[in-house]
Amino acid sequence: MADSEFVVRVATAAEHDRFVGLFAAAMMFESSPDDLDRELFEPERALVVMDGDEFVGTAKAMSRDLSVPGAVVPAAHVTAVGVRSTHRRQGILSGLMGRQLREVPEALAVLWASESGIYGRFGYAPAAWVVSYEADLHRVKPHPVRGDLGGVEEIRAEEALPLLARMLGELQARRPGVSGRSEQLWRKRLQDQPEHRGGMTARHVLVHRDGAGIVDGYVLWRGKMGWGPTGPASEVVVEEVVAVEPTAYHALWYHLLTLDLAAKLEYGKAAVDEPLQQLVSSPVALGRRVTESLWVRLTDVPRALAQRRYATSVDVVIEVTDHLVEANNGRFRLIGDTGHASCERSESTPDLSMSVTELAGAYLGARPLAEFAATGRVTEHTPGALSAATSAFGWPAAPVSLEIF
Ligand SMILES: CC(C)(COP(=O)(O)OP(=O)(O)OC[C@H]1O[C@@H](n2cnc3c(N)ncnc32)[C@H](O)[C@@H]1OP(=O)(O)O)[C@@H](O)C(=O)NCCC(=O)NCCS
Repeated sequence: MADSEFVVRVATAAEHDRFVGLFAAAMMFESSPDDLDRELFEPERALVVMDGDEFVGTAKAMSRDLSVPGAVVPAAHVTAVGVRSTHRRQGILSGLMGRQLREVPEALAVLWASESGIYGRFGYAPAAWVVSYEADLHRVKPHPVRGDLGGVEEIRAEEALPLLARMLGELQARRPGVSGRSEQLWRKRLQDQPEHRGGMTARHVLVHRDGAGIVDGYVLWRGKMGWGPTGPASEVVVEEVVAVEPTAYHALWYHLLTLDLAAKLEYGKAAVDEPLQQLVSSPVALGRRVTESLWVRLTDVPRALAQRRYATSVDVVIEVTDHLVEANNGRFRLIGDTGHASCERSESTPDLSMSVTELAGAYLGARPLAEFAATGRVTEHTPGALSAATSAFGWPAAPVSLEIF
């Protein structure tokens, strides 16, 4: 669909509540913005579409960083995409996306999609999967803890922020797909208003300390009391687990999986290679389900490719097509390995051809380029180039996106 005739412009700080109001109506939730939301608003990165004096469309980008294979880089975190229900299918989203993609200063944009069918046409591709657990705690049977796993302790949210921020930074160094949080974003993340708890308890902040008393992992979780015909059937709802040290990881999960009265545990942010499956004798009882998580869009192909690292040495010329961002069209020579990468425009014969969408799908290391070659979306011109590039674009740790933004 062509872009609409409506005027697209940048929002002002004073328009925050109106902006959120339109997005909330499109997403069918009740908006109740607070001062922290207003503080976090970056009006210069927020676009509104006007029909006369009325807001009929919104989209914004947040300035955050993101871990990618071997690096942490700035990434436009796209969110608040909404169109007034009376104005759908008139090209408003297309107008917003086109302008936003051409203007973002970062080399890549990322988002979580409300519906899978929306963003592929704008060059976004799912680049990470998320595993959701709905674990049957009577069957999952965590392996007994051997030896001293150290102390698990509950702390108050107010003292948690710096400890949790340090842990998140450590996770970013180990896994792609993790979005960084400023102090304000941490304060937003740890807000816990009773009216938003959905019948669950206040949030518990649980940390693990190593032998020296240093925090080396944390969990955010809530409980919900329940009773079934045969007795207690409470639920444990885990919001976030960040523990990069094996002992902390085991101790925190053991604690969650053995809580008294609980029959079910839900966790919706696990990685495809989540180590938890090794710590239980009945992994099937984790009730795993895999869906799309982070969508990636490369807005500046050579800069984005030079910003990440590669699992094996690669020297390849890729011919790229992009129907929205003109500068991404052409041939680029990528040279990279685990410690360094460069990517320059080139006139050489291409080894591989693909659109910007397939490059985005492979960017976080979770989707092999060979997957796209199997349907003809990546073409190999030089024998061996596909296999070499597939290995190089892969990464030893699967990406994980810890929050829907
Ligand atoms: C999704 C939404 C933003 C689309 O806005 P819109 O202005 O109607 O979109 P456009 O008119 O620019 O449509 C562009 C194309 O996307 C398609 N499209 C739009 N919404 C779609 C959807 N939900 N699923 C699949 N395709 C969709 C259109 O059919 C059109 O396709 P075409 O080019 O082949 O004709 C709007 O329907 C909305 O606000 N939905 C509710 C809120 C929401 O889900 N926001 C996204 C948050 S991640």
